[in-house]
Amino acid sequence: MSEHSIEDVTRVVDGVLRSRRSLRAYRPDAVPRAVLEDILDVASSAPSNSNTQPWRVHALAGAPKQALGAALLAAFRENTLPPSPHFPHPLPEEYAQRQRDFGAVYYRTLGIDVADMPARLRQTEKNFGFFGAPVGLIFTIDRRLAPHSWLDLGLLVQNVMIAASARGLGTCPQVSFARFHPVIAQHLAFTEHELTVCGMSLGYPEHDEPVNRMAMPRRGVREFACFDQFE
Ligand SMILES: Cc1cc2nc3c(=O)[nH]c(=O)nc-3n(C[C@H](O)[C@H](O)[C@H](O)COP(=O)(O)O)c2cc1C
Repeated sequence: MSEHSIEDVTRVVDGVLRSRRSLRAYRPDAVPRAVLEDILDVASSAPSNSNTQPWRVHALAGAPKQALGAALLAAFRENTLPPSPHFPHPLPEEYAQRQRDFGAVYYRTLGIDVADMPARLRQTEKNFGFFGAPVGLIFTIDRRLAPHSWLDLGLLVQNVMIAASARGLGTCPQVSFARFHPVIAQHLAFTEHELTVCGMSLGYPEHDEPVNRMAMPRRGVREFACFDQFE
C-alpha cells in the first residue's frame, strides 16, 4: 500500500465500489478453486460483532451445482414451499415503488413486458441456475443468532462481491434461494443450526449482454443522510 499515494488508492477503491453491478450473464469459463479461495480469504477480513464471524459459505461448481440448480428449479415449479419472509407483505410503499422501478428497468432491458408473467417467471427461474455462472455460493448463518449478526454476514457478502470485482469477476447476490432452505439444507447436508440467508452467482461476466449493463439508480446522499446535527 505504501508505494501508492492516497489519491491512487481512493481512485482504485472508489472505482471498484462504483463499477460493481449485479451481473446476470456469464461466460462458461471455469473459476479456479484457488481464485475463489483467495476471494473468500480476503473477504473474511470483514468486521463482525465481537469478532464472532457468524458466516458459512458453501461453494458449488460443476455437477453438484447443476444438481442443486435442478432440485431448486423443480421446487420452484412445484410451488409448495411458503414464500420467503425476506420482505414484509405488503412492502411499505416507499420500498415498493423502488422495487417497481427496478422491475421496470430490468424487464425493459430484457425485452420482457412487465405484464407478461410467464416470461417474468422464466427469467426468475434463471436464479436457480446461478444465471449460468460457473460458481454458485450459498451463504448461511447460525439460526440461533439475533438479527444483528446477519449484518456481519452482509459485510462478508459485500466483501466477496468487491474482492471478485477487483479480480475481474462478476457476481449477483440472490435472496431467491432463501425460500428453498429445506431443499438446500438437504442437498448440502447442513449442520443442525445452519440457515440459508442468500446465494450468489460468481464468474467471468459477459460484459456485452444488455442485462449486465443496467445501472440501477441510487438515492442521493442528501436524501438518505441527515446533517441537521452536523456542526
Ligand atoms: C440481499 C440481496 C438480495 C438480492 N436478491 C436478488 C435475487 O434473488 N435475484 C436477482 O436477480 N438479484 C438480486 N439482488 C440484486 C439486486 O436486484 C441489485 O443489487 C439492485 O437492483 C441494485 O443493482 P446493482 O447491484 O447492479 O447495483 C439482490 C441484492 C441483494 C443485496
